[in-house]
Amino acid sequence: MSERLDGPRLGVAYYPEQWPRERWRIDAELMSEAGMSLVRLAEFSWALLEPDEGRFEFAWLDEVLEILGGAGLEVVLGTPTAAPPVWLIERHPEILPVRADGRTVRFGHRRHYCPNQPAFLEATERVVTALADRYAHDSRVVAWQIDNELGGRCFCDRCRSAFQDWLHRRYRSLGNLNESWGTAFWSQTYSSWRQIPLPESLPVPLPDGFLPSSPNPGLALDYRRFASESLVRFQRLQIRILRERCSPGQRITHNLMGFRYPDVDYHALAGELDFVSWDNYPLLDRTGRWSTQALGADAMRGLQGGPVWVLEQQVGPLGWEMLRTPRRGQMRLHTYQAIAHGAEAVFYFRWRTARFGTEQHWHGILDHDGRPRRRYREIRELARELLQLRPALGGASPVAEAAIVHDYDSRFALQVQPTNAALGYEETVQRHYEALRRLGLGVDLVSPRAVLGGYRLVVAPNLYVLDQEVSAALADYVEQGGWLVLAPRIGVKDRCNALPERAFPAWLDELSGLEVVDYASVDQHSAVRFGGPDGTMPAGAFTGWYEEVELKGARPRARYLEGDFAGSAAVAEREVGEGRVTYIAGAASESTLRDLYRDLCARADLPVHEVPDDVESVRLLSPRGGGLLFLLNHASEDRAVELDGAWQDLLGGEGGSGVISLPAYGIALLAGTVAALPEDVTAS
Ligand code: GAL
Ligand code: ZN
Repeated sequence: MSERLDGPRLGVAYYPEQWPRERWRIDAELMSEAGMSLVRLAEFSWALLEPDEGRFEFAWLDEVLEILGGAGLEVVLGTPTAAPPVWLIERHPEILPVRADGRTVRFGHRRHYCPNQPAFLEATERVVTALADRYAHDSRVVAWQIDNELGGRCFCDRCRSAFQDWLHRRYRSLGNLNESWGTAFWSQTYSSWRQIPLPESLPVPLPDGFLPSSPNPGLALDYRRFASESLVRFQRLQIRILRERCSPGQRITHNLMGFRYPDVDYHALAGELDFVSWDNYPLLDRTGRWSTQALGADAMRGLQGGPVWVLEQQVGPLGWEMLRTPRRGQMRLHTYQAIAHGAEAVFYFRWRTARFGTEQHWHGILDHDGRPRRRYREIRELARELLQLRPALGGASPVAEAAIVHDYDSRFALQVQPTNAALGYEETVQRHYEALRRLGLGVDLVSPRAVLGGYRLVVAPNLYVLDQEVSAALADYVEQGGWLVLAPRIGVKDRCNALPERAFPAWLDELSGLEVVDYASVDQHSAVRFGGPDGTMPAGAFTGWYEEVELKGARPRARYLEGDFAGSAAVAEREVGEGRVTYIAGAASESTLRDLYRDLCARADLPVHEVPDDVESVRLLSPRGGGLLFLLNHASEDRAVELDGAWQDLLGGEGGSGVISLPAYGIALLAGTVAALPEDVTAS
């Protein structure tokens, strides 16, 4: 995308409707003085844009655009559907969504709509059409954001009948549905589509294993797909209206919520956008791991394989009730981290701390009194720095030798039956991701249907739901020379969430040259060690879950040293065509995984570059051919990083060779002859 070629830009989420008119001009001037060039507007302002059905008031927004445009700022216009006005709810109370426990959500917050209610769809069409008609050719508007953080699942009667229709289209006959879901179990056979319920969908408590009510797994997975598709369809309705009207210069996006948001199939949602955006709040993860934002960024970039925008980036203390404050330097660090992972624009949330409403605690760049203080000065400084880095960073994109396969069917199915806490979908992906990243590898998170050929290493850590088609693509990747890593529980369910009549890992048993013949699900803290007496085998431990595998062509790479499966293979490997498959037979900690991947990289001739744990390294390739290395120190104290070769720090201006020292939350952007810089690898 051309913007990225000019280097990363800064922007801000702005709510002029929450401030007096006289203030708008001052704000615009302050924004542009700080070096920002983009503003996001209007995503929650339905009640102001359409104060009553069909009566639109655009004068205020016209004026805002005039002022912002006059200050040289470009605008991302939000469609306001995340906050339906009270007059609409009053007229059509059925719009309010119903929660899993049967309670109807009340007016008074946001996201209070069911995406399947006709009255809401009609109102959406009306307001989006009016906005598009007004601003479709406004050159100040460079992009549209649809709604805001689409999410949630509704359990209303309308959703139930829409779900039944959806099932009818999917299964065509009730016989087929009954067979696919195995409704012979507990007498659940359906003789009419209208009999099919919505699943009981309360969160599954771990690790007890028994629920007062647990739905048929086929029904539960299909409902999750349906709920996700309902939002994709809702977004599509808006995209269609905008595309029919808007000039080609206006691109369409949506702000997704990173990797950890589990309810919507982001591959489907992102597939229909011109580009992907996301919201990045590093301090929302109480564990403080840098990998959370890094994984979010790589997952979002992986959705389309191109640069992304961060439409909301944490700028100050956050929280609705309790506050968590970033330490000095973290705002800058997190901005560079987003840029390192491929963001071509970063918008801070929000311009000014709100005086009213739920988010009084969620701090903006300016304080509630409108005075620019430290955060404002830091952003101005950062904008200057970024300007200087433009020639180096323009068009640069992160390099990825490895891909992790990220699959929503598997994720949804594990929500229904988590199996063992050690197998948690998000945590498992994050452990593999951290292990690879700590070895200095670049990682893309990709869909199971992505083209894999460009990656040296592909990891499928939990493809719990699988089919012939995906496994054939994985086999093809291996035969062409790729290295595929599998971990439990892969190939456990078919697309209907039924167990296949085939040994695990089903559809991959032949490729991996082994069968799972027994497994142990134990307390997630009890560990079983593996390794080899001769010390040539990688050593480590599995916790919570481990499997006994019977080798049918694969060779052991490590064996269990204890427990019921002592002496049998804990890690097995098979050469296939030009490539290999490695099967890790248990849930492993990040440090065990790191050891396994280190061993693998050595044999695959994949260079690793290890830095202290709190330091993140990200390698980029510039379109002009040079390699760049970001070093991001996430620790609250200095860290020294050993480098092999001479470097030039484009941020600090210093040059040197060997060790570089980074202050607390410090950043270096290196070019030079450092061995860790990417060269002949393909940029992602
Ligand atoms: C985001 C949301 C924003 C704001 C922010 C802080 O998730 O999109 O509108 O609410 O969080 O809570
Ligand atoms: Zn509904």
